[in-house]
Amino acid sequence: MADEIVPPANQLAAVSLGNDGSTVQKAQFSNRVLIRTILDRPDGGAKLAGQKIRIGGWVKTGREQGKGAFAFLEVNDGSCPANLQVMVDSSLYDLSKLVATGTCVTVDGVLKVPPEGKGTKQRIELSVVNVIDVGTVDATKYPLPKTKLTLEFLRDVLHLRSRTNSISAVARIRNALAFATHSFFQEHSFLYIHTPIITTSDCEGAGEMFQATTLINYTERLEQDLIDNPLPTEADVEAARLIVKERGDVVAKLKAAKASKEEITAAVAQLKIAKESFAHIEERSKLKPGLPKKDGNIDYSKDFFGRQAFLTVSGQLQVETYACALSSVYTFGPTFRAENSHTSRHLAEFWMVEPEIAFADLEDDMNCAEAYVKYMCKWLLEKCYDDMELMAKNFDSGCIDRLKLVESTPFGRITYTEAIELLVEAVAKGKEFDNNVEWGVDLASEHERYLTEVLFQKPLIVYNYPKGIKAFYMRLNDDEKTVAAMDVLVPKVGELIGGSQREERYDVIKKRIEEMGLPIEPYEWYLDLRRYGTVKHCGFGLGFERMILFATGIDNIRDVIPFPRYPGKADL
Ligand code: 4AD
Ligand code: MG
Repeated sequence: MADEIVPPANQLAAVSLGNDGSTVQKAQFSNRVLIRTILDRPDGGAKLAGQKIRIGGWVKTGREQGKGAFAFLEVNDGSCPANLQVMVDSSLYDLSKLVATGTCVTVDGVLKVPPEGKGTKQRIELSVVNVIDVGTVDATKYPLPKTKLTLEFLRDVLHLRSRTNSISAVARIRNALAFATHSFFQEHSFLYIHTPIITTSDCEGAGEMFQATTLINYTERLEQDLIDNPLPTEADVEAARLIVKERGDVVAKLKAAKASKEEITAAVAQLKIAKESFAHIEERSKLKPGLPKKDGNIDYSKDFFGRQAFLTVSGQLQVETYACALSSVYTFGPTFRAENSHTSRHLAEFWMVEPEIAFADLEDDMNCAEAYVKYMCKWLLEKCYDDMELMAKNFDSGCIDRLKLVESTPFGRITYTEAIELLVEAVAKGKEFDNNVEWGVDLASEHERYLTEVLFQKPLIVYNYPKGIKAFYMRLNDDEKTVAAMDVLVPKVGELIGGSQREERYDVIKKRIEEMGLPIEPYEWYLDLRRYGTVKHCGFGLGFERMILFATGIDNIRDVIPFPRYPGKADL
């Protein structure tokens, strides 16, 4: 049936058969078909039988059969969790070079419905007609053995772990959530703003910033230079000064003697060289090993930016400048925190999504956060169901139900004061926490998880926190004790989102900065937003990796970012 409709080799699989609407889409910018487009169809690919296609991928498992007459390869190209079964005849290639896990193959073949009763779930397989390319693997050396590998083991093989089913599924889910993020905010008329990664402002004032400096490399180079080229002595400096004087005298004499213009010009040129050499020698003679110092402190005026600079902990302050002009904006980028946390919820480098909305208050903020989280859950159910099934199978059997619940159920909303009352009540009934519960303390992760997992069993927004435990920029409530802050707490993770209505009143925010012992000068530009055309506004930050933890049910945040950075670890 198939032979007369096989397309010419240069148009492999670019055709529609037309008889029953079966098509195979060629991958863009690559002369092959994505395995997803074959397997991820209601018919499981069966209606594509007869088409000649090219695929490329990595062998998950391979086995020779029929006493070496042919081999079956399970091939995965990363486009979906499922593998395509590929059959290769020994007349086409040395089968022993194809079957090792990790081998890369590019092959042309004809799609066929596998014979029944073989026990395979696959409704289509590829019978190879030509082996185009092979990237072999020495099975005795391949760092990823075929046995089931723990996520912890894989953290030491970052460059290859993307080849595993779990990590590649997480990568597709992460990609989908990033797309969903842009889609949600763009659909709601937010503008995407790129805030800086290097900053001179500390947004959270928590002193957890990584410094961005070239002073250390500079000092190291200098110290090596001082070893290689010893410093000029005082006598060297004197000698250079003397040459300047002598050459100055020569110029003066020539001028007095009304020498020719050429002679004077030549002597002046010599003087200039001597002066430059003297300046250089004198400057070098003052060099000292170690960091440049001024009044006993490190002299940052000598640093790359002429001042102390850091990696950002949040793009909020900068994105506020755009919210106060373009109304609804968001930033989505990497953020850095040098907290020495060894928990399964903290990274030193993580991604944050931070919308900022002008003409909006705390309630609008909560509504936006809830709508955004629901949107992402719905998106995953619609677009990543196969990957979510893999998560349910490997990590958390409840993860799909959780997405469904969150997508369809209103979040709980309680004040901080009510949250404390509920926790105190729980303690009275015998619940034990490691951390003390009383009004004024920051909620610990165990409290947050108890509230959302046990008491509410769904996402919960806690708002109006005591001002003493929150950042300077949050709007002071009329009680003058609490600020218009809100945290979104979710099962499995605890805090997913932190946000607030911003303090838009100049006098109040200035007083807050002073009260908190922060220097005013670095925040002058931020105060300008309140001095000139101030506006009620609010925003929040969603920890992107925490959203992936929540969605997938994976336990450790180090496994949901491609290249995790945490104390003691920054591989690749
Ligand atoms: O609550 P945070 O510190 O809020 C801010 O930085 C605000 N400036 C955001 C804003 O209003 N625009 O951080 C926001 C979220 C947290 O709720 C948490 O999900 C995540 O960022 N987060 C981390 N994720 C991974 N590793 C860490 N070390 C994190 N610290 C915070
Ligand atoms: Mg927070």
